Amino acid sequence: MSSDNAYSDVILEHYRKEAEEHGKDASSTMRDEITRGREIASTLRVLEFLRSQGAPVTRILDVGCGNAYLLEVLRKNDARIALTGLEYTPEMVEIGKSRGVAACPIVQGDVRELPFPDGAFDVVITERCIINVMDRAHQAESFHQVARVLATGGYYLCIEAFTDGLEQLNAARAELGLPPNDMPYHNLWFDKPWFLETIGRDFDVVDLSVHRDPTLPTPNFLSSHYFVSRAMYPAMTRAPILYNTHLVKFFAFLPPMGNYAPIQFYLLRKR
Ligand SMILES: C[S@@+](CC[C@H](N)C(=O)[O-])C[C@H]1O[C@@H](n2cnc3c(N)ncnc32)[C@H](O)[C@@H]1O
Repeated sequence: MSSDNAYSDVILEHYRKEAEEHGKDASSTMRDEITRGREIASTLRVLEFLRSQGAPVTRILDVGCGNAYLLEVLRKNDARIALTGLEYTPEMVEIGKSRGVAACPIVQGDVRELPFPDGAFDVVITERCIINVMDRAHQAESFHQVARVLATGGYYLCIEAFTDGLEQLNAARAELGLPPNDMPYHNLWFDKPWFLETIGRDFDVVDLSVHRDPTLPTPNFLSSHYFVSRAMYPAMTRAPILYNTHLVKFFAFLPPMGNYAPIQFYLLRKR
């Protein structure tokens, strides 16, 4: 598949600017500290859980690794695992490399045609990556590529964004007299039936809720946080959304309720 598409320039321009403005910082691509923190904590918790279940978690690929912030956290958490980063925007690749994460190659490449052999990894992570592939057929190919480079029985930690979360959030915002939030210009979020049908070709969805362990993420892991930060806070202040406020941090203890967050966490197992 050619990586020379109409939307590729939009993506490159967006993330070049992001790289220039945010460098190695955790705020790069995510200004919301609670969202970033939950993505990272949930990723670490799921890896720990998989290990406890006896799953091999030794070869990990982070696709769309940005400035390699997550890879550095993963390395600090475990000195022995084999880490690899794959990133599309050359400026992000350079920043990621400059982080100097030990024994962690960072490769410039494209999720639509991953430059790795079949079955090369036990775990693949995408943290808000495939939503930047702004074409449904290319997104489907991207999911298939993730499956291809995973070993049979390997796990895909899919942290991506969905339209059903946005619809629920906007219904809550409308009730509070707020205008709808939009999908960002550089994203194409997934419709849930399309997503489940597409990933169902290669993966089974792992339902972590059966373990009744609140530390294990469910798809709606950010729902209450989005309700408070993107509906309640702007309704109370009648001001544009501000991230990382006292009010939002105060309510961070809430367990996930409802389906108000576009960003969702799916654990998938390759068949
Ligand atoms: C929202 S950012 C997230 C970056 C990182 N995962 C993080 O959480 O900070 C999305 C990343 O995906 C990269 N990306 C966009 N299109 C891509 C593609 N086709 N293949 C691989 N990476 C891509 C972007 O350059 C960007 O760094």
